Amino acid sequence: MSQPSITAAEFGQLPDGQAVQLFTLTNGQGLEARISTYGGIVTHLLAPDKNGQPGDVVLGFDSVEGYLSEAYQEAGPYFGALIGRYGNRIREGRFSLDGQEYTLATNNGPNHLHGGLKGFDKVVWQAEVLVDPMPGLRLTYISANGEEGYPGTLTVSVVYMLTPDNGLRISYAATTDQATVLNLTNHSYFNLSAGASADVLGHELQLHAGRYTVVDDTLIPTGELRPVAGSPFDFSSPHAIGTRIGDVPGGYDHNWVLDGEDFRLVATAHEPTSGRTLEVYTDQPGVQFYSGNFLAGTLTGKHGTVYGKHAGFCLETQHFPDSPNQPEFTSTVLRPEELFSSVTEYRFGVKS
Ligand code: GLA
Repeated sequence: MSQPSITAAEFGQLPDGQAVQLFTLTNGQGLEARISTYGGIVTHLLAPDKNGQPGDVVLGFDSVEGYLSEAYQEAGPYFGALIGRYGNRIREGRFSLDGQEYTLATNNGPNHLHGGLKGFDKVVWQAEVLVDPMPGLRLTYISANGEEGYPGTLTVSVVYMLTPDNGLRISYAATTDQATVLNLTNHSYFNLSAGASADVLGHELQLHAGRYTVVDDTLIPTGELRPVAGSPFDFSSPHAIGTRIGDVPGGYDHNWVLDGEDFRLVATAHEPTSGRTLEVYTDQPGVQFYSGNFLAGTLTGKHGTVYGKHAGFCLETQHFPDSPNQPEFTSTVLRPEELFSSVTEYRFGVKS
């Protein structure tokens, strides 16, 4: 195997002339990640299969134009991107904090989704290369007070680092100068077959979660944390994603209440043909398992692949949706004297 490395290349330009860079990280053990300064997007992620053959296990595009196209904006899948300020939904784009009401864009039916009209997925981040102990990329973005309606100047930094044991580790940090709300995640779509299978219905998934947040028909939690036992949401032992998806109207797009706390294994996926496995570790209380229900074959990505329904799945580690309006959920408030920090790792392996 080669030495760990990190290199930079041009990825393209935004319509306003801003240059976008693409960084390539390798860990010397067969894992390679490419990350764009636009949106902090993981555009490529190469992991070995059971025969040691590398394959690209995430959905995305080869150039920045793919992420800027009208078809992409129309579909809004957030491929591989950093999501903020608030990942997932806030009911009717409203919340109050310390007696003050805030109004955000409603960009998902009646609700606010993934930070609004121009979230962290659509801004250019400042990049800094890290080499010790492993190749890493620090991305920093300063979100102005009032941006997308959120209070406080928020300074966010995200470090992507490859670990020696084939993990892509994402460390989030943030500070604010005024009380605000925050829910950061990454929106990678995985297909561990690396293009061999057009959908992920054959992937076996296990989620270490005994409950999920029940939602209304606009995907806002009702407040009920319901046991998964005896339902199609029960992934406490491995199940193929496709086995019971027909019993979930629209497909999986829900937040699971993860067992335990601190940094721990919360999910494992296995694709039987390639043998690839994905383990997800996080310190977050929830994960949105989204089965790519809205992909509709309107986008053609890398390797000429048409992304149809269920072409990839997301495991978005997060606080529960609509937490700013649900006092019984773990708080997503960040205050000036606090440092927000969180870590999620996607670790790849093989199993026959
Ligand atoms: C999240 C949401 C989904 C959808 C996707 C992007 O996973 O929960 O409803 O918006 O992002 O298409």
